[in-house]
Amino acid sequence: MQCPVDTNLMINGLACFGGGWQAATEGQSFAVTNPASGEKIGELPKLSAGDVRTAIRASEQAFASWSALLAAERAQLMKAWHRLILENREALAQILTLEQGKPLAESRVEIDISAAYIEWFAEEARRVYGDVIPSPARGRQTIVTQHPVGVTCAITPWNFPASMVTRKLAPALAAGCTMLVKPSDRTPFIALALVRLAEAAGIPPGVIQVLTGSSREIMRVISDSPVVRKLSFTGSTAVGKDLIAQCASTVKRMSMELGGNAPVIIFADADIEAALNGLMALKFRNAGQTCVCANRIFVHESIAGDFARAFVARAEALKSGPGGLPGVEIGPLITPAAAADMARIVARALEQGADLLTGGGEASQDSGFYPPTVLAGVTPEMDVARDEIFGPIAALLSFTDEDEVIRLANDTPYGLASYIYTRDLARAWRVSEALQYGMVGINEVAISNEVAPFGGVKESGFGREGSRYGIAEYLDIKYRCMGGLSA
Ligand code: SIN
Repeated sequence: MQCPVDTNLMINGLACFGGGWQAATEGQSFAVTNPASGEKIGELPKLSAGDVRTAIRASEQAFASWSALLAAERAQLMKAWHRLILENREALAQILTLEQGKPLAESRVEIDISAAYIEWFAEEARRVYGDVIPSPARGRQTIVTQHPVGVTCAITPWNFPASMVTRKLAPALAAGCTMLVKPSDRTPFIALALVRLAEAAGIPPGVIQVLTGSSREIMRVISDSPVVRKLSFTGSTAVGKDLIAQCASTVKRMSMELGGNAPVIIFADADIEAALNGLMALKFRNAGQTCVCANRIFVHESIAGDFARAFVARAEALKSGPGGLPGVEIGPLITPAAAADMARIVARALEQGADLLTGGGEASQDSGFYPPTVLAGVTPEMDVARDEIFGPIAALLSFTDEDEVIRLANDTPYGLASYIYTRDLARAWRVSEALQYGMVGINEVAISNEVAPFGGVKESGFGREGSRYGIAEYLDIKYRCMGGLSA
């Protein structure tokens, strides 16, 4: 079935699978709500195991023809998709804010970065090179070529429901793979809208499908399927561990972008104004629901008091409200339950001895709003410093010297992003060498973009997204040893 074209791109009641747009064969559906008001905004199909099998077959069929295109042909289709996303930027941003809650200004930026991944990987499609390795013996050639891994699956989160879709789809498509996208049940409309535009750009049916419904049921079929050769997941470490175990039976390739507990280290010699600006963005962007956002803020003891006062003044000035209203800088959390978690985290931190400088209190019962909150006097053993907060709570710790802060920063099972503010170049190099993290921002917090390899170490996962390393995740290597070549 052809998807009805709606100028606002909201596709209600249909998923994209089996080479077309349809409802679930068993007729089940689920509701999606607006996190700012709790109101229902639409309903989508809850696919059955049979529907998922249909989608896998369609993906396998589409793979044969998609992977046979020239890289330049795939790149052209992707560039057309990129153009359509930018032309529909405003409609897409509205959908994003409606179902996710973030301020419209942030949604617009997310649509831009979503499009940028597609353009970048369209260009990379033409640079999937091989190798000819000097042979260890006469009369032989050692030749290495790269090939798409096949049918792939992406499970994408609700915090960046547009850019996490294209950050996975773009390298997969560029490499010649097809992909089944399972968006979060909380934010599926933006994924459907993006895929509707991919179709309008000429990307053939079956190359991208969107599976809506229960992650657990869908993943049971995907993980057991020998046809699906790769899974890319962004989400919590706990779910990532389950998925790794589930996919062991079919030995899939995997990329895992999991939880974080990012340290931000502010040395006494830092540009304090730059550190304050950076920290505001890092802590309160997307209401703190970002796996690379500041979780533990280490401020040198000699500047801790002044820094906290200036930071609190800025946090108190943030304008909170529904993301669609003009001037709003911080929206609701994704659910009332997430806001209730914030209230629990603050209560526990106060019980363990932290000081509340601003914010805190009970959460709203029927929406996801929670105030920007700053805690001082946090110590490394408190729960707020050990667990991923995923909300607008800033935990301030202080430190006395470089060795101590490096030890504290690394004292976590996570290793995604970390940040340093200092004017001392030698210190910046030394500390960034010692930090056990996949990414280090030095006097900069905007580290995520299409040209850079995003990803973590330790229990933050493995694999990289974005950059030339991102496409390697969707390519298998074939080595040919050709003998009998002596004259
Ligand atoms: C994430 O939180 O998973 C992604 C954040 C980003 O790309 O900025």
